Amino acid sequence: TAEVVPQAPEDALFGLMRAYRADENPDKVDLGIGAYRDDNAKPWVLPVVKKADSILFNNPELDHEYAPIAGIASFTSKAAELILGGPDSPAIREKRISSIQTISGTGAVHLGALFLSKFYPGTKKVYVSKPTWANHHQIFNNVGIPTVEYPYFSKETKGLDFENMKLSLLSAPDKSVILLHACAHNPTGVDPTIDQWKEIATIIRQKSHFPFFDTAYQGFASGDLMKDNAAIRYFVEEGFELVVAQSFAKNFGLYGERAGCFHIVTGPAPEAQSTITRIASQLAILQRSEISNPPLYGARIASTVLNDQALFSEWEENLRTMSGRIISMRKALRAKLEDLGTPGTWNHITDQIGMFSFTGLTEAQVLKIREDAHVYMTKNGRISMAGLNTKNVDYVAKAIDKVVRE
Ligand code: LMR
Repeated sequence: TAEVVPQAPEDALFGLMRAYRADENPDKVDLGIGAYRDDNAKPWVLPVVKKADSILFNNPELDHEYAPIAGIASFTSKAAELILGGPDSPAIREKRISSIQTISGTGAVHLGALFLSKFYPGTKKVYVSKPTWANHHQIFNNVGIPTVEYPYFSKETKGLDFENMKLSLLSAPDKSVILLHACAHNPTGVDPTIDQWKEIATIIRQKSHFPFFDTAYQGFASGDLMKDNAAIRYFVEEGFELVVAQSFAKNFGLYGERAGCFHIVTGPAPEAQSTITRIASQLAILQRSEISNPPLYGARIASTVLNDQALFSEWEENLRTMSGRIISMRKALRAKLEDLGTPGTWNHITDQIGMFSFTGLTEAQVLKIREDAHVYMTKNGRISMAGLNTKNVDYVAKAIDKVVRE
């Protein structure tokens, strides 16, 4: 009976968003949830998305019928090309990839977790970075796969704890599933360099581990789509079998539309195509039982842009606008903290990339800065860089300076 249902805690991130909205202080600053804001702290509908909107609106052919179970093919095929670097990717040329439209990145991670729990015998547990996006733990746990953490972030350097990460991957049992953030690691903003990715790939090969990539920031991180997919391209070129959970929430600003894709790439082998056909058939069964078929709107928007050269170029321009503004805010925040002589070093703010910076503030400092200055960030000291703008960066720097000195 219903009495056995215990009370669960509120989701920390969405709870933070609610607390921010309820705060009536005019100086309040939202550095919580990872969603892009413009220089006026407002959500930004990408101009190219507005164009795609009006194209869809004026298309008399479009109706509201069901999408196929695997989603809109013109969307999933371009999503695959985008993440693998174009139609010449060996996985695409050799038809070694199966792609299925999902409920954004969360749905893609979930479908991947579910698929592995059923078909990959090594999935006793999944290795995730310490720290990782909090939802990763829940998603895997919900399908019965416990998460284990591998070292990732060094508190001393506020960069990658590469030696300990490698040791941990080496000591994990063979054939472990390793979750990797393709770029713009959430929450730390710390990514391996391409040479470090190569070393990670060597260990994964040596241990026959299974790479599970999560990518939510392609093009958003550096402004360069090919730079932000370099790790995945490298693994595919090296012939790895892998999966990718891909979100279009951030790079298209389609947060609420839930456009995403899950891809499985098999290694090069004579039977690869028949393997892919079998995998696709199982993914379709899982999808049908969970969501039947995915939603149309966000995928139509992305598909319209991805399939049109002029719109695609305009999208790249929009991506540079977002990533450029974030990079300039990194520079501004670091410069202001250094000008104030705030105790500690602040180079990590410009070294880290993507939506977030892991400031190094302690939980006590995070709670204090919320209380005193109405600056909202997650308890682990993560700030969403997009919440900063030319009007509030001074205020935030002074608030950080104050809380660090207390
Ligand atoms: C975040 O980490 O802030 C975003 O990825 C939003 C989310 O769904 O958690």
